[in-house]
Amino acid sequence: MEKTTSCVLIGGVDQLPQKLGKTVTIGNKEIAVFKLENGDIRAIENRCPHKGGVLAEGILSGEYVFCPMHDWKISVKDGKVQAPDIGCVQSYPVEVKDDQVYILIRE
Ligand code: FES
Repeated sequence: MEKTTSCVLIGGVDQLPQKLGKTVTIGNKEIAVFKLENGDIRAIENRCPHKGGVLAEGILSGEYVFCPMHDWKISVKDGKVQAPDIGCVQSYPVEVKDDQVYILIRE
């Protein structure tokens, strides 16, 4: 089956808290959206691959989020879990147009 890409508006740039995560639900996907200190916006799957911690509730440091449950360090850029732990979460491309934030979902 061919994959389609949907571009989903999640709100204005100003509606995202800086240096904190926000949970956004799109269809059956729960996504953690982060506005970094430098203003970049990143979107990753909201469940830690370890035991399902909610990543939007983690602590953001630079471009990494620390899972609120057992402190795994996960890149909000590409979703990779950092050593010594292993794994990854899905990351989603983000586009900002006219101060509106869109997440691109392929399904
Ligand atoms: S559930 Fe995320 S580190 Fe354990």
